[in-house]
Amino acid sequence: MYVAMISLFPELIQAASEHGVLGRALQRKIVDLTLINPRVFASDRHNTVDDRPYGGGPGMVMMCEPLQASVSEAQRQFVAQRPDAAKLPVIYLTPSGEPLTQRVAGELAQLSGMVLVAGRYEGVDERFVDSTVDREISIGDYVLSGGEMPALVLLDAVARLLPGVLGNSASAVSESHLDGLLDYPHYTRPENRPEGRVPEVLLSGDHQAIDRWRRQQALLRTWRRRPDLLSQRPLSAEERKLLAEVLSDLPNG
Ligand code: ADE
Repeated sequence: MYVAMISLFPELIQAASEHGVLGRALQRKIVDLTLINPRVFASDRHNTVDDRPYGGGPGMVMMCEPLQASVSEAQRQFVAQRPDAAKLPVIYLTPSGEPLTQRVAGELAQLSGMVLVAGRYEGVDERFVDSTVDREISIGDYVLSGGEMPALVLLDAVARLLPGVLGNSASAVSESHLDGLLDYPHYTRPENRPEGRVPEVLLSGDHQAIDRWRRQQALLRTWRRRPDLLSQRPLSAEERKLLAEVLSDLPNG
């Protein structure tokens, strides 16, 4: 997947992208990441990329032109690599965007390329959004000082879904949120610690029982911590039974 990130702080992205799952995706050339600094496309001798907002107010707004030129550069590179390439979708990271969910990550993982625009300061000129941006995405209901970390969060969520990135392809599928539930708890050695023992069922070797316990724990956690997720996802009859059972087993249940 060809990914261009447009940012005034490419070093920040570079450093973060060298490690972990994303680092591996880059090494294996499953993700081809290009960093584009809009400052390179500034048209005055001070390399200006931002200016004061019309109408007044605090902060600075990123100007249209250097951002548009950065997107054109990404498009040019993409087409040079693959002559049959279509137009790259342009995604702008902003707290005003649609929420990033596992479903959105899954959709983006189907693309052959994308441009991620990390804004700085108070935002970007709306005419850039109107003319060039295809999708606005938020990583959560809080405001960060720039879109670099959101762009990295989005790319991490997408990269780990690409074939060949995770060692064990099953681990991408079985994890939290893919089926709308939180993940079940995990344990590793040793079996016994002052804080407690590993749940007996996990030591039983009975895979059916283990699977049942895990589904039950995922349901219980979701019910306790994120009831909003359960209201969006109808439970099957089997799941309702599993949840009722684990709830009635609780000490004060
Ligand atoms: N830029 C600043 N805050 C953000 C957020 N929560 N999501 C996406 N981009 C952002």
